[in-house]
Amino acid sequence: MRNFSFANPVKIIFGKDTIKDIANEIPIGAKVLMIYGGGSIKKNGVYEQVINALTPFEWFEFPKIEPNPHYETCMKAVALIKEKKVDFVLAVGGGSVIDATKFIVAAVCFEDGDPWKIISEGMSIEQAMPFGTILTLPATGSEMNNGAVITRAETEDKRAFFSPYTYPKFSILDPTTTITLPSRQVGNGVVDTFVHIAEQYLAYRENNTLLQDNFAEAILKTLIVEGPKALNIPTDYGVRANLMWASTWALNGWVGCGIIQDWATHRIGHEVTAFFGLDHAQTLAIILPGVLTVLKEQKAKRIQLLGKEVFGLSATSDDILIDMTIQAVEDFFEKMGVKTHLSDYNLGDEAIEKVCERLKERDWKLGECQNVDYKMAKRILELRK
Ligand code: NZQ
Ligand code: ZN
Repeated sequence: MRNFSFANPVKIIFGKDTIKDIANEIPIGAKVLMIYGGGSIKKNGVYEQVINALTPFEWFEFPKIEPNPHYETCMKAVALIKEKKVDFVLAVGGGSVIDATKFIVAAVCFEDGDPWKIISEGMSIEQAMPFGTILTLPATGSEMNNGAVITRAETEDKRAFFSPYTYPKFSILDPTTTITLPSRQVGNGVVDTFVHIAEQYLAYRENNTLLQDNFAEAILKTLIVEGPKALNIPTDYGVRANLMWASTWALNGWVGCGIIQDWATHRIGHEVTAFFGLDHAQTLAIILPGVLTVLKEQKAKRIQLLGKEVFGLSATSDDILIDMTIQAVEDFFEKMGVKTHLSDYNLGDEAIEKVCERLKERDWKLGECQNVDYKMAKRILELRK
């Protein structure tokens, strides 16, 4: 295990009827801005619960954060916060709303020109406004981490930033809010969570990380058992609770302690979304099996471990076990209703060229061994046509 330091300050409030608890978490007398998406919270009763809980506060709202949130939209919220002199922000929604909020609270305090520089130039921030979240879509782990992914529509850029100042103060995880998710988003959430673990668990190891491995396997097994149930019996509270807690733990930093990590699938996937608008998880379902196939020698031991421990597979040779495991991953994504080939989304050679051209321009070397350059990305994507 490598040396590491770990701190996660996010207070989690988990369970039924917990949205009302925000009143105890937001500072007394705060002026609050509620940020949300395209309106799902108005259809499932979450909005009503939030505005009831905000009764003791003066509050404003900023709706219409889009999936894969735009910098351009975020900057309108920044202006509103300044105009109304807001001092606490509440994100209500999925990863897009939470990520947008992280950028907004950082951008409000940024005094060194255009806040896009936080992302494009990796400029570190020295402060951010306090914010809390109410999660309605278990997938990204954004509710308990300090990262956000923002798209600049004008330049078709989708990029991440991280800061110690952009951890939520609290996150409400009420699994009942997820019962109204369309099956496409249930599938997306399970696949995204699976791939967050894959980026950590399947990265080449220098040495033993048994505790992290056991924990990662527990999360993956939970997804494999509970994911299909959420599609088949959408109202099962227990299933929703297990999935919500699994997705939070998959990317709150814990599983990744002391290990080198991959993230090539995510980095290539963000480019596919930036150019062609696919859902985040759809890009991952396409790319991960390709990454595992092209890097099967480097990741051999890890893929075998996944096959044995998570999918319960055995085979007469290591090579066969590896191939069976990669197929099992792909089959699981398909079982969750997330298609795994570029052609399923009407993409082909032109899309591959465009994505790889950008990786070339940026001279990116991705993955735990920094060997996934544009040429290797092309091999990966060619396999996924
Ligand atoms: O906008 P509304 O109307 O709320 O509808 C949303 C949206 O259309 C809907 N939805 C959310 N909760 C619902 C619901 N519909 C019915 N009932 C509910 N309870 O679902 C749609 C998708 O929402 P979105 O927030 O975009 O999805 P997700 O949570 O998957 O977030 C994806 C974004 O997070 C980024 C992705 O790149 C993408 O931009 N990621 C963020 C990460 C992080 N901060 O750590 C890590 C991830 O790897 C990921 O990159
Ligand atoms: Zn993800």
